[in-house]
Amino acid sequence: MNLHHKMDEADRRNRLDEMAQGVLSTPMDRPEGPLKVSGTATYAHEAQPDGMLHGVFARAPRIGRLMGMDDTAARGMDGVKTIISGERLLRNPAQGTANEAPVQGASDVHYVGQPIALVVADNFETARAAAQTISFDIADADRAPSTPRDYESPDDQQSSQGDLDRAMNEAAVSIDQTYTTPSHNSAAMEPHASIAQWDGEKLVLRGSYQMLKYNRNELADALGVDPENVRIVSPYVGGGFGSKLGIAPEAVAAALAARETGHPVGVAMTRQQVFESTMRRSETRQRVRLAADADGRLSGVGHDAWVSNLPEETFFEPVTQATPFTYRGENRVIGTHVTRVSRTCAGSVRAPGEAVGVTCFEIAMDELAHAAGIDPVELRRRNIAEQDPSENKPYSSNKLDAALTSGAAAFGWDDSRPEPASRREGEWLIGQGMASAVRVNTLMGSKARVTLDPGGTAVVETDMTDIGTGTYAILTQLAAEMLGLESGAVEVRLGDTDHPPGSGSGGSWGASSAGSSVFLACQSLRRHIADALGTSEENLTLKDGQAIADNRSVPLSEVLDAPLESTGEIEPGDTGDDVRQATWGAYFCEVAVNSVTGETRVRRMHGTFAAGRILNPKTARSQCLGGMTFGIGMALTEELMHDPRDGHVVNRDFAEYHLPVNADVPQITVELLDERDPWANPMQAKGIGELGICGAAAAILNAIHNATGVRVRDLPATLDKVLAEMAD
Ligand code: MOS
Repeated sequence: MNLHHKMDEADRRNRLDEMAQGVLSTPMDRPEGPLKVSGTATYAHEAQPDGMLHGVFARAPRIGRLMGMDDTAARGMDGVKTIISGERLLRNPAQGTANEAPVQGASDVHYVGQPIALVVADNFETARAAAQTISFDIADADRAPSTPRDYESPDDQQSSQGDLDRAMNEAAVSIDQTYTTPSHNSAAMEPHASIAQWDGEKLVLRGSYQMLKYNRNELADALGVDPENVRIVSPYVGGGFGSKLGIAPEAVAAALAARETGHPVGVAMTRQQVFESTMRRSETRQRVRLAADADGRLSGVGHDAWVSNLPEETFFEPVTQATPFTYRGENRVIGTHVTRVSRTCAGSVRAPGEAVGVTCFEIAMDELAHAAGIDPVELRRRNIAEQDPSENKPYSSNKLDAALTSGAAAFGWDDSRPEPASRREGEWLIGQGMASAVRVNTLMGSKARVTLDPGGTAVVETDMTDIGTGTYAILTQLAAEMLGLESGAVEVRLGDTDHPPGSGSGGSWGASSAGSSVFLACQSLRRHIADALGTSEENLTLKDGQAIADNRSVPLSEVLDAPLESTGEIEPGDTGDDVRQATWGAYFCEVAVNSVTGETRVRRMHGTFAAGRILNPKTARSQCLGGMTFGIGMALTEELMHDPRDGHVVNRDFAEYHLPVNADVPQITVELLDERDPWANPMQAKGIGELGICGAAAAILNAIHNATGVRVRDLPATLDKVLAEMAD
């Protein structure tokens, strides 16, 4: 019994509002929360089987061509079992949805810290000590520069409409500025770790991954085995933020070592290894051009982005992803330019594209508001388009105006446009800033199985993951709502490729895609029950273990004589192309900048967001809080530094890579607007995971300008940059 649904048209039935259980869209606690806070949820490196060996990477100290290595001393150490190197081991991390083996390094060493050999020993300490004795012979070879230069402009990444140069020339007010953002690391709390165990031809890998159905194919391809023989188990993931979308080198290494030794092998990366050999977000340079009339109405929009990656990688940071559809302006040039560098692989990190793209664009919008003498909220309101102006198609919904209005009221936005540097409290300069939030919405194919027991319990199974986002809670609520059960009567089993393949967690699509498959499986079960009662699914009410229809109430145990199982499958369709789907919001913040030191303190921050139906306001709010916290980091401190000589990552730990900590984060408030988006999926819900970071940093940088008159265009706004401008 299966229900497959392709999303080819808007689904306006609003079925979830008709359910009677009242579990969905309530702020339910995470069912796995007690396990996590009591330390009993087993993360990847904690489920260690008896006899497990430990693997530690030896890594490239420089770039070039690998000619050989000397591991004599390591092999002679007590407890060292084997040293793995060569063709299969030398790999970069895989990009999200790659579905095939990650790019092979062969003997090419393209970045400092690239894993070259894995030392396997009885215990971690021995493996680590042995790894430190290995020396590599790396010859000079023709390699990409370590600092970006010589960009290419792929044709398919350039678009233009009308005549932007002319619009700029004729504009009453125009902005033409260039902004830069540094590399970022995903910085998940849990480092990458895998434990591999073979049983004959069958591999079980306990790992920490975001998208298991793809990860299984990537790992199988890397090992040269049938995906059927690979099982990945990843029930709890201590954050991914993009770095665990595709398999990383430790998964391949653990599997190879376990195959060779005949023992389970665990490989846990150190924090420094995570920084060097998983993913970074590319540094970006962005030129934004805005042409407007005297009322601030845009006639032209230009957004060019320059990004980098390793040779042969096809991913590039999609900086301008939201630019084509965010605001009006009929003359446009939007383009991305790519170069090759010898730096750690670039890939998805926390809202690839919009996180940095919307941020720089929203600083430019603030510059325009200032130049035109228009309140920045009002400027944005005047530039909301009727429909996607690049593709001339309707929005599935556009809640930007509502978010701006409601957010400004919630924050207490002062629209009197005080001059920059006009509010002072002692040595602190006070200012306010705002920015729009926008993120594309995506539906991905996903399957889930739901089994309803006549006793009034249900089990949900999918290889979907919960990377800290609340998947266990949301899927529990969905099944409980659809089947008329208490949330405690539903068990959700995730993170195992033995379950039906879900969407995985990435690109904010997890809850809406995996959720839709659970919705469909439950709908299928409801149809079966309705059939048994001789009624229609629409006419059926399931409540508290009772099936109710046509003035009859029958216990489930009388309708079903055995557990009933159904698989639901959602497939993306025409609604992904016919309309422009996005989530919207607005940020507001107040900063205090110290006039003596240039230090910025975010005093308060507010975000209003719209993402269709909110499935759980507590987990949704937490996502937004996290996103805005990233925004504070992006604005003020977060910066992955590369040595200009060889590109190596200089600040490879949390002492030197500055993420915001509690003392940096003020009270943040979040408002979620009530919305249904029938184009998104049958639940009318959209992804909210990444929306909170898409432009958040701009609100802070704009507030710094309002406080001080200093416009920082080179992120982050560290003390030196602010102070240098304040001095004159
Ligand atoms: Mo996300 S950066 O697609 O996990």
